[in-house]
Amino acid sequence: MLIKKLQEKMNVLERSDLLRHKWIAQSQTGTQQMLLSATQLNPSEQTLFCSNDYLGFANHPDILYALKEGVDHWGGGSGASHLISGHMRPHEELEVMLSQLFLRLIPDNRCLTFSTGYMANLAVMTVLGDASSEIFSDELNHASLIDGIRLSKGKVNIYKHRDYDALDNLLSNSTADTRLIVTDGVFSMDGDRANVDVLQKLAHKHDAWIVVDDAHGYGVIGDEGLGSLESEQLICDRVILVGTLGKSAGLSGAFIVAHQTIIEYIFQTARSYIYTTAPLPAISYALLKSLDLMHGDAGRQRRGHLRVLEHHLRCGLSDLLGKYPAAGLSISDSVSPIQAVIVGQSQRATDLSDGLNDLGFRVPGIRPPTVPIGTSRIRVTLSADHSIDDVDRLMNAFRILFNKII
Ligand SMILES: Cc1ncc(COP(=O)(O)O)c(C=O)c1O
Repeated sequence: MLIKKLQEKMNVLERSDLLRHKWIAQSQTGTQQMLLSATQLNPSEQTLFCSNDYLGFANHPDILYALKEGVDHWGGGSGASHLISGHMRPHEELEVMLSQLFLRLIPDNRCLTFSTGYMANLAVMTVLGDASSEIFSDELNHASLIDGIRLSKGKVNIYKHRDYDALDNLLSNSTADTRLIVTDGVFSMDGDRANVDVLQKLAHKHDAWIVVDDAHGYGVIGDEGLGSLESEQLICDRVILVGTLGKSAGLSGAFIVAHQTIIEYIFQTARSYIYTTAPLPAISYALLKSLDLMHGDAGRQRRGHLRVLEHHLRCGLSDLLGKYPAAGLSISDSVSPIQAVIVGQSQRATDLSDGLNDLGFRVPGIRPPTVPIGTSRIRVTLSADHSIDDVDRLMNAFRILFNKII
């Protein structure tokens, strides 16, 4: 009965063109990767425009060297959860480093690290979203924030994407003793950004706090790469910042930086921190190197190149889309290495993504429920390891496919 029910549910997904397939990578990540899809017999070399390795740090020789050194010094697994015996010196040093990096933006802060961003978001939302709290969440927030909110006990309000007047109204009507505004810093499927400056003003006006998930901003935005908060040049005394370490930092993990009392309470009570094995200490050890590079000249230079690529891609895409005014295509309002071509129906996104694959590019089609119905898209992500020539080749592939499909 169960098997039959599940099969029927998957048949429905298939008929709506919403079934997901896996790709098996046959080589390390980078701008070029050998990939094998479920529908191919042999792997093919693809130019990747889908990785979150924005700075190209996943294969940086100094970081890989540090990772090996970390294994030599600290061994393999941590052996236990953080609060039993798994919290080792590299974990601690990473937290101290991150805390200091953000000190001028988030005063009186402390940092707590996690195995993944998903777990960090669950921790923040379940711990702070208690029964006397009210949560105000942007409708396009990442699934991990949404799941954290679903697990919380707070009253939930969803506001229209970046509609801060609507948010102001909702906050005015709140009588809760804790008000939590929750937003992505850089929205993961559009590449546009929350206005942290406005949110901070609203937080002061309504005695609220802001949870900023900066998974896609950290390392990418700001001269030092501190992310969405840095570019606003604010003192973010009302911000609880979540950042991930598996994207720009090229490894894995996540952190929360916030006022020390908030962090201490998360440390004491968050189930996704307490009841899980601490990550490999070698990863934290290598992250120390990665962050050193990321916030120094190497990171600065790579961020500069990313800006050039973003501009080149956006100009090329808007020229190209201008040639198909009746096709109902648009590009997202992005100011980041995430650039989305919104095509509407799922089938169209799948056809374009498959077509790009045949031409040697892995650029995923993103469909509901990841994005709202009718806004399926091709999501291009850039890496500092791409060249202008890579982007030109991608544009050419789009041109070929638009002529054929649109
Ligand atoms: C905005 C955002 N937040 C959180 C996460 C989760 O981070 P992690 O992959 O480290 O679990 C992701 C994606 O992975 C993301 O895009």
